[in-house]
Amino acid sequence: MIADPVLRSAGLADAGLLATLHTDCFEDSWSTGAMIEVMRSPGTFGFLVELQPMMPVALALGRIAADEAELLTIGVARAWRRAGLARRLIRAVADEARGRGARRLFLEVAEDNTAARTLYGAESFQIVGRRRAYYTRPGGSAIDALTMRRDLARGWRWLIGR
Ligand SMILES: CC(C)(COP(=O)(O)OP(=O)(O)OC[C@H]1O[C@@H](n2cnc3c(N)ncnc32)[C@H](O)[C@@H]1OP(=O)(O)O)[C@@H](O)C(=O)NCCC(=O)NCCS
Repeated sequence: MIADPVLRSAGLADAGLLATLHTDCFEDSWSTGAMIEVMRSPGTFGFLVELQPMMPVALALGRIAADEAELLTIGVARAWRRAGLARRLIRAVADEARGRGARRLFLEVAEDNTAARTLYGAESFQIVGRRRAYYTRPGGSAIDALTMRRDLARGWRWLIGR
């Protein structure tokens, strides 16, 4: 029987696992080498959601620099989408970033990525910038990247534990 998915911190030792899962989430995925490089860079942290040890179904990586954080990547295995896992991961990244002193969380998303944009909008991110023709699709078409930001200040909900 498969238990409820468990969210845990991920580190450099998980680079291979993260890269394998990234391949299931993205057409333009990161190799193990690229993942090791990212995980080694200062301020980087990560989370995995696993069905059981070594069976990951979702991942998110973030990075802190001074009082700002960036969501570097987030992905959920195709079979596990629309189960609330990305929402859990974004909240874990936001909590971790806040705990490390960040006041704002940034990310970049392709303008045509409806699923991710809807998710980020629902999680209080707002569009604050645009990079023209930042991504190139397999057919050659250019897509803008939108920069989104979420405030990490502790509000009244935190005070009453909600
Ligand atoms: C985007 C992605 C991470 C969402 O993961 P997920 O676990 O399916 O998302 P959740 O189940 O947590 O969804 C939370 C909310 O986001 C929105 N959402 C998620 N997927 C959506 C979709 N396909 N269409 C519309 N809204 C969507 C909904 O508001 C959803 O809430 P609801 O299910 O109660 O309606 C996932 O589709 C994915 O891995 N895509 C490929 C990788 C990618 O594009 N990553 C983001 C790069 S910027």
